Amino acid sequence: MMALARAVMLLVSMGVSCGHAADIRYLAPPGVPAKEFPSPQRAVAQIVSPSRSSEEHRDSLNEAGEIARLLELKPGMTVGDIGAGAGYHTVRLSRLVGPTGSVIAQDVTRSYLTALARRTQRLKLTNVRFALGKPHDPRLPAASLDAAILVHMYHEIAQPYAFLYNLAPALKPGARVGIVDLERPASEHGTPIELLRCELSAVGYREIATHQLAGDGGYLAVFSPPEPGNRKAPRDIVACRGTGIR
Ligand SMILES: C[S@@+](CC[C@H](N)C(=O)[O-])C[C@H]1O[C@@H](n2cnc3c(N)ncnc32)[C@H](O)[C@@H]1O
Repeated sequence: MMALARAVMLLVSMGVSCGHAADIRYLAPPGVPAKEFPSPQRAVAQIVSPSRSSEEHRDSLNEAGEIARLLELKPGMTVGDIGAGAGYHTVRLSRLVGPTGSVIAQDVTRSYLTALARRTQRLKLTNVRFALGKPHDPRLPAASLDAAILVHMYHEIAQPYAFLYNLAPALKPGARVGIVDLERPASEHGTPIELLRCELSAVGYREIATHQLAGDGGYLAVFSPPEPGNRKAPRDIVACRGTGIR
């Protein structure tokens, strides 16, 4: 009897962990390989943490509310939290988009997504999907996103040109990409705004606006992606070099 109970417990626990593991996968076939693109001519920051700073501090600055307001995020939308990490934005976006919307929490670090899946399960958030990506390719379904946010993660993208190119098809017509980062070198976990503008425009993204966030929140730069049939060919993309590019 005890042995049976132990076996059932084991199966249940395996089922739970397998359930999470099964949910953490690529959501789309590979895009264009990294070798087709130039490498960045500047430092790329190491991945060191699943979050930027304490959630209490970020809430005190209304970081999530400000990003939602400036990007006009609304109930019913599907929003990609790219480089979701511990999910500060994922859980807040989940509540904002509500039962008719959804959030795709995307990251290259499987263990971060596994922990985030547990967090959303604990919070009973049922409108969050998880997407594993590669440093050069977010592997997101075509035309799946009304908006994408990349918060304090751009400086960690090892292959930004390939990444941006492969991200574009996941955005619906009219979708916006909001990038939050700090005005400091990539080696210090920031992206100088001129460097960001140069790299985004090299792939054909167009800047819509840039806003300063409260306190030490950094900037929010808003871009529209290149039209699907209008992306620059990978071989025509030229890596940014020069002033402010460290
Ligand atoms: C400092 S954390 C920020 C997490 C979250 N966005 C936040 O604001 O708290 C950076 C995250 O970006 C992820 N990351 C780094 N390179 C990435 C890439 N190429 N594609 C997707 N995620 C990436 C890391 O695994 C990490 O979870």
